[in-house]
Amino acid sequence: MTDLLLLPGDGIGPEVTAQVRRVAARLTNDLQIEERPFGGISFDQHGVPLTDETLALAKASKAVLMGAVGGPKWKDAPRDKRPEAGLLGLRAGMGVFANLRPALCFQPLADASSLKREIVEGLDFMIVRELTGGIYFGEPRYIEDLPDGQGKRAVDTQVYTTMEIERVARVAFELARGRRNKVHSAEKSNVMDTGLLWRQVVTELHARDYADVELEHILADNAAMQIVKNPKQFDVMVTDNLFGDILSDAAAQLTGSLGMLPSAALGLPGTPGLYEPIHGSAPDIAGKGIANPLAAILSFEMALRWSLGRPELADRLFAAVERALEKGARTPDLGGAIGTEAMGDAVLAEL
Ligand code: NAD
Ligand code: IPM
Ligand code: MN
Repeated sequence: MTDLLLLPGDGIGPEVTAQVRRVAARLTNDLQIEERPFGGISFDQHGVPLTDETLALAKASKAVLMGAVGGPKWKDAPRDKRPEAGLLGLRAGMGVFANLRPALCFQPLADASSLKREIVEGLDFMIVRELTGGIYFGEPRYIEDLPDGQGKRAVDTQVYTTMEIERVARVAFELARGRRNKVHSAEKSNVMDTGLLWRQVVTELHARDYADVELEHILADNAAMQIVKNPKQFDVMVTDNLFGDILSDAAAQLTGSLGMLPSAALGLPGTPGLYEPIHGSAPDIAGKGIANPLAAILSFEMALRWSLGRPELADRLFAAVERALEKGARTPDLGGAIGTEAMGDAVLAEL
């Protein structure tokens, strides 16, 4: 059985996952690793961003680690053939409905954030983003021509069921119990019916099974403001697919850089997890060898912990990243001058 399926993808994806390979090889020699093209490069080679074979292998592996997909080269591809569609197909196909996006400020990086040190120092909160529903997948969705030269009309559909909300909220409550025991649930129940249902379902689940956990409902726009005003008030924040996408980019910047934030997407117990840095393919710096590989390396750390049953290796890797940062290793996004490979070297040196 494949332990880890690597999907380097496009842009800086292959650059950052190359560092994951080096780190994995240093940590252990008993992981069976496979690699497949995915995203734009798969479209170029196979005509689709995600082949049936790759999806089947992903489902048969213990964990999947993706670099990043997308880029200007494929911007005019049909929507269902775009690299991003491959990623959505992978998430849906693997059934990974709960996306854990930790916003963690490493002590040595408290000055790398665009926010003041006292706002971000010691920050440790977790966004749990619903990942396989909502407006990303709702039907109908289309662009149609309007009659008489009135232009076009585009439709997306936001849709959630009780089951989809409950299972992701359950993940958030369970996580909170092992942390600081507090959940914020973010939606727009003031304007959206999906938001109303979201609030009802979370409230009921809380009363039924998680009354010991502190629950606070928050409107998603206010959540965005609170994330930049006082992020340390948060422990776990559960939210839908679209709000989670946006709020997690904001949370990433608190930690110093988008290049720092890993994620784990989990499905039902016993099914493989999908691990991905939350950043994209960064076309503006791709090929320059300066991308920060830490989000990818920390995504591997999460894979070791959550899917590969190797928490002791995860602890070692996490500590090595921390020490490398303490000793001053900084890619340009963190205000430094070393490249991707040198950041990999800095982590390897601590292992
Ligand atoms: P992006 O995350 O690729 O880049 C945003 C900014 O952050 C850029 O300035 C980039 O240089 C910087 N950045 C990102 N990762 C970095 C890293 N590891 N080190 C240093 N700097 C980093 O977002 P974008 O520019 O909006 O999107 C580019 C492409 O990536 C689009 O095609 C988009 O759809 C895709 N995308 C993919 C994923 C994914 O694969 N998970 C996530 C987001 C965006
Ligand atoms: C992310 C990305 C993806 C998303 C895109 C590339 C499909 O922005 O993982 O945050 O919107 O989910
Ligand atoms: Mn995003």
